[in-house]
Amino acid sequence: MAGSVKVKVCKDAGDVAVQAAQMIAKAIKANPRIVLGLATGSTPEGTYAELAKLNKAKQAPFAGVTTFNLDEYWGLDGDHDQSYRHFMNTRLFDKVDVRPWNTHVLDGTADNPMLECQAFETKILAVGGVDLWLLGIGGNGHVAFNEPGSSVDSRTRLVSLTQETIDANSDGRFFKKASDVPRCALSAGIGTIREARSILLLATGEKKARAVADAVDGPFTPDCPASLLQDHPNCTFIVDKAAASLLGKK
Ligand code: GLP
Repeated sequence: MAGSVKVKVCKDAGDVAVQAAQMIAKAIKANPRIVLGLATGSTPEGTYAELAKLNKAKQAPFAGVTTFNLDEYWGLDGDHDQSYRHFMNTRLFDKVDVRPWNTHVLDGTADNPMLECQAFETKILAVGGVDLWLLGIGGNGHVAFNEPGSSVDSRTRLVSLTQETIDANSDGRFFKKASDVPRCALSAGIGTIREARSILLLATGEKKARAVADAVDGPFTPDCPASLLQDHPNCTFIVDKAAASLLGKK
């Protein structure tokens, strides 16, 4: 099964951001009413900055775009400075002409997590599905908050975070210490993500090299959730040289 993911290797993280933003801008031009799936984390920040520039230059109009985000920390209100709603507002939504009511981020304070997750899936279906889902990848191969062990047909649900993911998100970039990081999150499932018509996964830096190699060259296994994208008909990884350094070495 390995080998059907297309991999584009760029010279550095800046180039990954430019390439990814250009691909998204092209997709928006081709379909101004596109449904985009979006990701958080450090990796897509450069892409969002590039998209904001392209939007200003009228090369990536967001007025007709609908967005869905992968995940949200359980227990964090959208106003919390570490919530993914806040991340998206400050990194992208406030900088482009997207209509706020067309942006969907799971509510980490919903009364009933199961209903919140079902409503999220229903909204995706109601708009005809996601056209392009932008993803990052965790050092352990997680996508969204689908940690190792997540099944290929998992749906949006309340999940527990691994210690590795908690530590990775409390290294000073986001939370200051591990005890500040929520232990759970609402996350789109692997099955939810796989239904997108196209997938664009970004990875930069040597910390992601093992996960990228496992995802692309390794077995199709829940042990590396990103490997469960291998049989997707339209999945591209855009990675920098450091993240690509272990590719082809299995
Ligand atoms: C978090 C997010 C993922 C993201 C991952 C990697 O766990 N839930 O969607 O891909 O971190 O983040 P970063 O890009 O900061 O390395």
